Amino acid sequence: TQYPDLVIVGAGLFGLTVAQQAVEHAGARVHIIDVRDHIGGNAYSYFDKETGAEIHKYGAHLFHTSNERVWKYVNRFTEFTNYVHRVYATHDGVVYPLPINLGTINQFFGKAYTPAEAKALIEEQAGELAGTDPQNLNDKGIQLIGRPLYEAFIKNYTAKQWQTDPAELPASIIKRLPVRFNYDNRYFKDTWEGLPKDGYTAWFERMIDDPRITVELGVDFFDETQPYNRKALQAAGVPVVYTGPIDRYFDYELGDLKWRTVDFKEVRYAEDDHFGCPVMNFSDSDVPYTRAIEFRNFNPERADSYTPGRTVVWEEYSRFAERGDEPYYPINTDEDKALYARYAEKAAAEPRTVFGGRLGTYKYYDMHNVIDTALTAYEEQVAPLLG
Ligand code: FAD
Ligand code: NA
Repeated sequence: TQYPDLVIVGAGLFGLTVAQQAVEHAGARVHIIDVRDHIGGNAYSYFDKETGAEIHKYGAHLFHTSNERVWKYVNRFTEFTNYVHRVYATHDGVVYPLPINLGTINQFFGKAYTPAEAKALIEEQAGELAGTDPQNLNDKGIQLIGRPLYEAFIKNYTAKQWQTDPAELPASIIKRLPVRFNYDNRYFKDTWEGLPKDGYTAWFERMIDDPRITVELGVDFFDETQPYNRKALQAAGVPVVYTGPIDRYFDYELGDLKWRTVDFKEVRYAEDDHFGCPVMNFSDSDVPYTRAIEFRNFNPERADSYTPGRTVVWEEYSRFAERGDEPYYPINTDEDKALYARYAEKAAAEPRTVFGGRLGTYKYYDMHNVIDTALTAYEEQVAPLLG
């Protein structure tokens, strides 16, 4: 095989960003492989034939950043809509705005508290466990925001996320539970926010629209019957950027890093709009899923292209990931962190392989973080390998 200058394992945002930079700055010939049948990694989306909605295949993806370098970079490849993320929650048959804010509080208590009054009330309710050092998540939640709001909006939702009673979960899972004492229910606080105008996949295709970049899908780096496998590339000394799971790279020899995953159940309604918002959380235990995503509501500007009287919703179920599941959220206990540190040491000793992205570095990264770390990894680690 005539190898290219650089092989990238994984066509997610980390891999695509490094590929784009390698061509732009070094004129490199880059080959990207991905085991999936599409580019974009977990940020991939497709247009639903029946409804016209853009479905985010691995769960709702909202772009937001305060990083100017990243914002300038992504705007080279796509325009963004003026979408602003807002989430609502159904509790006990009533819909409330999230994150918990003065609107939530006044609706919940049926009052017209001022910010100062609401703050005093929550402090008083949180005082129930004052002076204690909560060891489990349940007590910690009560100590942070008081029992009434904790039990209404956090307790059962958290139990569904972890499939564990919060009284059995370590307090360390939550550091804070933000409560806003005004009516601001804008979900993100970043300077820039929006959704790619023609969809995520069109954005990603433009990043690698260059004859020096080739992409091969349905190819596993560890499959030794295909030429771009780990052993062959190592033997040929070809620089590799690896964005798959770091424990898999080393055959899990030190043990498995732990992740949570998410399952989706698709539901279709013969209505124009089922929830009236893109994300509806379900705070109670009687609904088995954590939240529902109604994709058409992410892009109200596309109203004319949607099929009237049809909408598609994905119900989201959260659970621990087994080997072979899609790893989504690193669990990140102290034990996991220590294990990752040992894998990272081995990774650093692989001379011509750069580990990156959320799987390669066992980190929860938003898209803007992944792009930022990829730009830096290109400069500091990949460029020197391209000599
Ligand atoms: P990935 O996108 O996971 O790409 C890695 C690629 O490597 C995959 O395509 C995989 O198939 C491939 N691969 C792995 N092993 C192999 C192998 N052996 N051979 C070949 N290919 C392989 N970010 C936001 O900014 N906003 C959000 O709202 C948001 N919501 C999210 C919701 C969910 C449910 C999840 C899971 C993530 C969310 N994110 C969000 C984060 C976002 O998905 C990530 O930041 C981004 O996708 C990470 O890119 P990556 O390239 O590091 O990894
Ligand atoms: Na390395």
